[in-house]
Amino acid sequence: MTALKTKLLKPLALFVMATSGLNAQDNTTSITIQVDDNAPVISKHIYGHFAEHLGRSVYDGFYVGEDSDIPNTNGIRNDIVEALKGLKIPNLRWPGGCFADEYHWKDGVGPKADRPVIVNTHWGMVEEDNSFGTHEFLELCELLGAEPYLAGNVGSGTVEELNDWVEYCNYDGNTSMAQWRKANGQEEPWRVKYWGIGNESWGCGGNMTPEYFANLYRQYATYARNYPGIDIKRIASGADADNYRWTEVMMRDVPHHMMWGISVHYYTRTGWPPSGSATKFDESDYFSIMKTCLKTSEILDNHIAIMDKYDPKKRVALVVDEWGSWYAVEEGTNPGFAYQQNSMRDAMIAGLTLNMLHERADRIKMANLAQAVNVLQAVILTKDEKMLLTPTYHVMKMYTAHQDAKLLPLSFESPKYTFNGESLPAISASASKDKDGLVHISLVNIDSKKENIIEIDCTNLDVKDFTANIVVSKKLQDHNTFDNPSTVKVEDFKDFKLKKNKLTVTIPPFSVVMLEGK
Ligand code: AHR
Repeated sequence: MTALKTKLLKPLALFVMATSGLNAQDNTTSITIQVDDNAPVISKHIYGHFAEHLGRSVYDGFYVGEDSDIPNTNGIRNDIVEALKGLKIPNLRWPGGCFADEYHWKDGVGPKADRPVIVNTHWGMVEEDNSFGTHEFLELCELLGAEPYLAGNVGSGTVEELNDWVEYCNYDGNTSMAQWRKANGQEEPWRVKYWGIGNESWGCGGNMTPEYFANLYRQYATYARNYPGIDIKRIASGADADNYRWTEVMMRDVPHHMMWGISVHYYTRTGWPPSGSATKFDESDYFSIMKTCLKTSEILDNHIAIMDKYDPKKRVALVVDEWGSWYAVEEGTNPGFAYQQNSMRDAMIAGLTLNMLHERADRIKMANLAQAVNVLQAVILTKDEKMLLTPTYHVMKMYTAHQDAKLLPLSFESPKYTFNGESLPAISASASKDKDGLVHISLVNIDSKKENIIEIDCTNLDVKDFTANIVVSKKLQDHNTFDNPSTVKVEDFKDFKLKKNKLTVTIPPFSVVMLEGK
C-alpha cells in the first residue's frame, strides 16, 4: 500500500507531501492496536476548559447576575452548567489569558457594591464591575464538579498578591487572609490545586525574555505556598507555538521540583491578526486550516524533545492550556470579543487535536480548549436566553470516554487527503481502555470528499461487540444556529462490522466517529 506512514515519518514530512508516487485511490487503512502495560493513562485533565474575562465568556456568558430573568444560581446560568456537566469538565482555567496579568484578585471579593470598576484593556476596553470574582468562580467550579485552575498575575501583580491569593483560598487558620475569606462567606478553604504563574509572559503578560521570566518564576513560585492538606501544582507560563527557546531556558534554569508543569499555547489560525470567516470558507481555506492544525504534532514533539533532554523521567508536565481555532470575529460583533461560530471544520480540529494530545499522554497531563463559552472555539454559544451546543461540544462529549483511560498505542498508515497537489494524512485515530474494560476508538476522517475504510485488528482486545456514534453533516460549513440548534449533533453510527476479530469501519468524509467495544 502506498500511503502516508503516520507513525514513522519525521514530523515535517508527516503533514505535507508531494503527491507524486502516491496512490490517490487508496482509501483503506489497517490499524494495529497494541496492549501495552507501560502505556500512559490519558489524564482527564487533558479535557480542561478555559473561561477568560474576554468578550461574552464570563459576563453575559457563564454569569448573568442574580437579577437576570435567565434561570441562574447566584448569577451563574443553569443551562450552561447543565450542558457542561455533559462534558465532565475536569478543570476550568480562569481569569485569563492575557486578562490574568492585569487582574487584581482583591478587587473581586467582598460586598459587590464595594468592588471597583476596572477596564479590560486587552479585550475591547470594556468596563467590568468585578461582580464575578474568586468566590463566584469557585462556586461555578463546584457546580460543574471541576477543579479550578487559577492563573496568577505576574505581569502587573506582586509576589505578595499571589502569596495572599493562595493563602486566602487554601489556608484553614486565623490569619487575616483566612479571616477575610470567612467574613466573605466561605468558612472552609477551597484548597485550590492548580495555579498558573503568569500567562504568555513573552507577550501580553509582560514582554519578558525567558531568562528574566525564569528568575521571576522562581520567586513567584516560592511564595505560592503549600498549606496543610494541599500540595499545589504550579504551572509556569510557557511558550507560544514554536518558541522553543522559551521551553529550553525554563527547563534549564528552573529547578524542576518548583514546576509541576510548563505550558504551551498553540492556536489553529492562519496568521495574525486571525482572519477568515468561521463559516464562509472554501476547500482551500479548509485544507490550510487542517494543515495548521496537524502542525500541532510537530510543535508538541519539539517541546517534548527539549523537556526530555532536561527531564528524561518526565516529572514536569507539558500543559497545553490554550488550544483551538481562531478566525475573524462574526460580522457586527466587537472585534475585541473573539466571538466566532463553530462548524464541522472545528469538529475536525477538536477530534484531531484530542487524538494528538492522547498520543503524547506520557508528557501532556493537562490541556484547555480556548474557550468554553462565546469565545474562539467555544463549546457553547449564547444569545440572550438562548443557548446552543457547537459541533466541538458534540465531539468533546463523545470523547469523554477517553478520560482517565489507559492509552492503547496504535500503528497505521493513513491514506491521504489531497488538494491542489498537497497531501495530508486523512485519518487520525486514538484508542484507550477504561477501568471497566471498555475499549474506545476515536477516528477522524478529514478528507472533504472521500470516505475511508478502516480495518482494525481486535485480536488483543478481548472485545465481542461494538456500538458507535458519529458527528457528521452534509457540508463542511454546517453549524448550529439559535434558530436551528441541531443541524450538527451526535448520531448513531452503524457503518461497521466485526468479523473474526477484524473490525471494518467505513468512515464518511469530514466526520468524527467514536466506537465503544465490550
Ligand atoms: O484565548 C485568548 C488569548 O489568547 C489569551 O488571552 C491569550 O493567552 C492568548 O494569546
